[in-house]
Amino acid sequence: MTSLPTACIVGAGSSGIAGAKVLHERGIPFDCFEKSDRVGGNWVFGNRNRMSSAYRTLHINTSRERMEYSDYPMPKSFPDFPHHSQIAAYFDDYVEHFGFRERIAFETGVERAARRDDGLWEITLDTGETRLYDTLLVANGHHWNPRWPEPRFPGSFDGQEIHAHDYTDPKMLRDRRVVVLGMGNSAMDIAVDASYVAERTFLAARRGAHVIPKYVGGAPVDQPWRHGRLSAVMANPRVPFKVRQRLLERAIEQHVGRVEDYGLPTPDHRIGEAHPTVSGRILDRLTHGTITPKPNIAELRGDRVRFDDGSVEEADLIVYCTGYKVTFPFFDEALISAPDNDLPLFRRVFHPDYDNVFFLSLLQPLGATMPLAERQAHWIADYLRGEYALPDRAALRADMERERERMFKRYVASKRHTMQIDYDDYMYETERECRRGAERARARGFALPVPARAAARREEQGAAA
Ligand SMILES: Cc1cc2nc3c(=O)[nH]c(=O)nc-3n(C[C@H](O)[C@H](O)[C@H](O)COP(=O)(O)OP(=O)(O)OC[C@H]3O[C@@H](n4cnc5c(N)ncnc54)[C@H](O)[C@@H]3O)c2cc1C
Ligand SMILES: NC(=O)c1ccc[n+]([C@@H]2O[C@H](COP(=O)([O-])OP(=O)(O)OC[C@H]3O[C@@H](n4cnc5c(N)ncnc54)[C@H](OP(=O)(O)O)[C@@H]3O)[C@@H](O)[C@H]2O)c1
Repeated sequence: MTSLPTACIVGAGSSGIAGAKVLHERGIPFDCFEKSDRVGGNWVFGNRNRMSSAYRTLHINTSRERMEYSDYPMPKSFPDFPHHSQIAAYFDDYVEHFGFRERIAFETGVERAARRDDGLWEITLDTGETRLYDTLLVANGHHWNPRWPEPRFPGSFDGQEIHAHDYTDPKMLRDRRVVVLGMGNSAMDIAVDASYVAERTFLAARRGAHVIPKYVGGAPVDQPWRHGRLSAVMANPRVPFKVRQRLLERAIEQHVGRVEDYGLPTPDHRIGEAHPTVSGRILDRLTHGTITPKPNIAELRGDRVRFDDGSVEEADLIVYCTGYKVTFPFFDEALISAPDNDLPLFRRVFHPDYDNVFFLSLLQPLGATMPLAERQAHWIADYLRGEYALPDRAALRADMERERERMFKRYVASKRHTMQIDYDDYMYETERECRRGAERARARGFALPVPARAAARREEQGAAA
């Protein structure tokens, strides 16, 4: 039997472990390197890799049944929106259950991933060791490198300025006059935390957002199967987006009303045209008068902040919930990088120029990332085993362009909207593409697209040394 190419997986967060589990069960030789001493990445509160953006009060905002892996349900004793500690324990149990923990090298960072002239990946670890692999799976996460406001706001501030990534505990907000900037999910959670303990909480935003509650009609908003016939249509990829958008708008209008009625700025877009801001609590705290909405920050003035409407407030802490940068510190920037968070890929997995590097969960879904990473991992495994063949390069690039055009046309222009996908549509389209690629692979006699060469090279190098 032809031997399969070897793979290196960077990271053992929820995406890396999905990749490792699939390669493990499908017989593809691999090593997974993880900086931390445990799996779970972002979901390990206080993770010693210092990359987690989790805070003490964090709960997921994609419901349990949406987030669980397909073959490992979360315990029924978990609530619909579990706490981060339950999510981290779930990932740990997953690795234990499927028995691949020993395949992960903990406390071992990938410092450099260089693609040699012969196409093999030369991986340099922070232990100083260098290893060769036929292929590389990138799962280093994209919510750990803070994006601060660019450019900085004019003026200077005497108080403290932190990014959401640095926020860990409501203690940090106690008795302070806090300005929270942003309208994404970090801003919602942190403003709500502040509203209980801070002296004043201001929620500043340069753009309004539709606020989607976690529950609608007594069930999680993202579980259409619990919302009857009409809602099932909303998760049906064969129904045009505009129709689903209108249905969701109606549901939100009925359950929430207009965000302006809570004092928030009018969104300049429709639901589904920005990454969803999900919060079951922000509107409640606004109606209690514990959060004061503001437009964007205009200027920092010592112990005060001036806002775009000319109002000035005393403040001693600003929390910038302004998103994250997509970065790969181990790649040479000229080889692979994501300027302004934009790295075009074929269906968010395959690089158009290199046939042996793949990305897991390098996307922003309307939905949860874990089952998507799992699906992507199977797709990569199909490819590495010769059971899926990519379309030819011209067709692949045309497909990428079409997808990008569609996304940029739909979404508000922002660095946070460079890799948006709809969960159900992505799953559906991926299944179809895998079937098409299986036909192409059959026509090509199931040839391996990436030959297994690294192991032999390693042995030659070992013998020569
Ligand atoms: C506050 C917050 C809440 C969120 N809530 C949700 C939610 O409810 N639902 C949802 O679906 N998504 C949510 N997300 C998105 C989040 O990105 C995913 O939940 C998930 O963490 C993605 O997993 P990952 O494995 O891709 O990345 P991460 O969880 O970031 O894991 C990456 C792993 O790679 C390791 N690593 C990185 N670089 C290296 C290297 N060079 N060498 C070795 N190891 C390396 C890290 O140590 C880490 O363990 C949230 C994000 C944030 C910031
Ligand atoms: N409970 C949860 O599950 C939870 C909690 C937190 C985060 N998350 C997830 O983590 C990821 C990151 O979320 P996030 O909220 O940290 O970041 P985000 O979604 O990128 O949101 C960033 C926000 O900051 C604004 N912003 C950016 N630059 C700005 C500037 N210079 N001036 C003023 N405003 C600026 C953006 O406005 P524009 O829209 O105008 O760009 C946006 O409102 C998302 O996937 C999110 O779903 C989940």
